[in-house]
Amino acid sequence: MTVWLGVVLVAFVLIIALLMIKQFFWNPRLKSVKNKHVVVTGGSSGIGKCVAIIAAKHGANITIIARDVQKLETAKNEILHACENKDAQRVEYLSLDIGANYENVEKALADLEKTMGPIYMLVNCAGTAIPGKIEDTTADSLDKMIHINLLGTYYCIKAVVQRMKASREGVIVLTSSQAAFLGIFGYSAYCSTKFALRGLAESIAMELRPYNISVTLSLPPDTDTPGFAVEELSKPLETKLISQSSGLVKPDVVAEQLFKDALAGKFFSFVGVEGFLLVTLCAGISPFNSICDLLLQVLLMGLLRIVGVFHLVFFDKIILNCMKTRDKNKKSE
Ligand SMILES: *[C@@H]1O[C@H](CO)[C@@H](O)[C@H](O)[C@H]1NC(C)=O
Ligand SMILES: *[C@@H]1O[C@H](CO)[C@@H](O)[C@H](O)[C@H]1NC(C)=O
Repeated sequence: MTVWLGVVLVAFVLIIALLMIKQFFWNPRLKSVKNKHVVVTGGSSGIGKCVAIIAAKHGANITIIARDVQKLETAKNEILHACENKDAQRVEYLSLDIGANYENVEKALADLEKTMGPIYMLVNCAGTAIPGKIEDTTADSLDKMIHINLLGTYYCIKAVVQRMKASREGVIVLTSSQAAFLGIFGYSAYCSTKFALRGLAESIAMELRPYNISVTLSLPPDTDTPGFAVEELSKPLETKLISQSSGLVKPDVVAEQLFKDALAGKFFSFVGVEGFLLVTLCAGISPFNSICDLLLQVLLMGLLRIVGVFHLVFFDKIILNCMKTRDKNKKSE
């Protein structure tokens, strides 16, 4: 009896190890962006700029979209510098507030396609995070996050999708966050918008698959970008302590993975073991692209639910401790 239990256990561990090796070390066939037009929103800094630089190295024509012309100009030069073949590639920028008004976005992107060629790959990286407890989140901050994170992404995709469908090819990337999988103290507004992006990505993945257009949802952890530095300034202590447990990654690591997963046609793009565990636990009824991933999910979900609950208990403790310390300080004043 115990022997059989041992055999089953060893087999279980072996299968998972093999699947993990494939997951992390297998190089799938990638589509090419050479000579194609790649558009990156939020392309003047952070993850977006890194994606644009990678696309430049792969021979694409690139347009970056953001608001600040000075930053766009600087980023454009940096991207030009990375081009594989400077004579045959074009790099342009568009100063546009993508979340403000749909008609503006539609017109700007239609005009852009006339001058720069049809968009093959749209990478939505524009986003912002203004953390704070729900009572400290101003209606203005909430509005800003909804407009940039959700509406901006929705508008850009809506504006290009018809021409993409007509050409029967295309790649769309939405940049969400690990915070699309669990609510976190201090992120009520941010999480709401990032959860929404998952709903958007899953819906359009279903709509666009028959048209040979792939949809990828990137789920970065805390990333070392200028945006993150600003976010840190208003972040509640609890939020800092909770997110510390998953570390800080470099934007080029996220961008590299995003680019590879998008061109491989994978739905989820994540980095690190934390990302893998979250995606595996939270796969739900997300789009299916690989038997290997499916097997890992089936084998690991139950166990990971327990790991998840341990994390929650740990987070609750952090929050309670912060509250007690605050109360004590108040009394001693
Ligand atoms: C990319 O830019 C080059 C140089 O301007 C141009 O010849 C080519 O047609 C462009 N490709 C696309 C897909 O627009
Ligand atoms: C699908 O798109 C890829 C490029 O993304 C292209 O190479 C391929 O020919 C397309 N397939 C069909 C059936 O249109």
